[in-house]
Amino acid sequence: MAVIGARRAGSSPTASDGEAAPLETVSSIEWTGEGLTVLDQRCVPDDTVFLQLTTIDGVIEAIATLAVRGANVLGTAGAFGYVLGLRAGLAPEDVAARVIAARPTAVNLRVAVELAHDAQRRGEDPLGVALRLLDEDREACATIGELGRQELAGRDRLLTHCNTGALATTGRGTALGIVYAKAEAGEPVTVLATETRPLRQGARLTVWELHKAGIPVTLLVDSAAAAALVAGKADAVVVGADRIAANGDTANKVGTLALAIAAKHAGVPFYVAATWNAIDASTPDGSAIPIEERAAAEVLGAGPGAAAADTRVWNPAFDVTPAGLITGIVTERGVLHAPYGPAIAQATR
Ligand code: MRU
Repeated sequence: MAVIGARRAGSSPTASDGEAAPLETVSSIEWTGEGLTVLDQRCVPDDTVFLQLTTIDGVIEAIATLAVRGANVLGTAGAFGYVLGLRAGLAPEDVAARVIAARPTAVNLRVAVELAHDAQRRGEDPLGVALRLLDEDREACATIGELGRQELAGRDRLLTHCNTGALATTGRGTALGIVYAKAEAGEPVTVLATETRPLRQGARLTVWELHKAGIPVTLLVDSAAAAALVAGKADAVVVGADRIAANGDTANKVGTLALAIAAKHAGVPFYVAATWNAIDASTPDGSAIPIEERAAAEVLGAGPGAAAADTRVWNPAFDVTPAGLITGIVTERGVLHAPYGPAIAQATR
């Protein structure tokens, strides 16, 4: 992974410091013709570092280390990674398998690589698939934003988890896409963003994005979310998805299940927003979704305040929210409601 540009970003611009343009969003991934230029999300918000990924190994490393992250961008990056593997003369089957294995939970990665691989087997150029996915993701996010805006009319205070915005998609995002659509329509919207332990995508990425767009955001630690919901501080919870099983059970960033349980207890609607390629009709329910487990070091930390290095750790990156806790699933094909099995089957036809 070559670093092609690095800038000390300093503190994020805020809505009040006069620097932020309304609804300014970032571009997380671009195809240059030679490779991918991606914003290194490990460095946000402190530094704006762009990586030039010109090899399949570079793409896989960027995905595995979360330089590139978020289900939708994993998909598009994976498709371009497949293209780079073929350009290096590697066997298509091996290339597909290696890229898909880079992260197991977000089915978007598998879907995108298989689309590119299918094109290759038909004798078509898989680069065309990858480029098309960039556009389709952007358009799907815009539709989700608008449908979610209508569904959540009058619900102005939204609690969200992890990062589902412009950094995680090639558009403006899924759950955060709804926030942006509300703001763009001139409707009042404020966000409660969970920190999202252990890698702090909420604190680092969501807060940064919303500051740039001039949308008011309040950060809270994950363990404060239940109290916020019970105290009536949010009108709805809106999260993304890494995989939605055929019955509506949804895998998303670890901590989502706790939010859904707390929302149910507090009587707050709980929405999932996801592009259709997060739906995995071949996985019957949440128990069959592979959950990525990541390194202990992410939880232990480093330096002052770190836990003892020999501490045993369980670090699942995702959890599964049962369909019964989900008020609605906002997709570009419409807003689905329970029972999700038939709703998904019908929208798939
Ligand atoms: O581990 P991450 O940061 O890739 O996890 C991301 C999430 O869980 C998002 O909520 C999900 O991918 C949806 S992004 C549109």
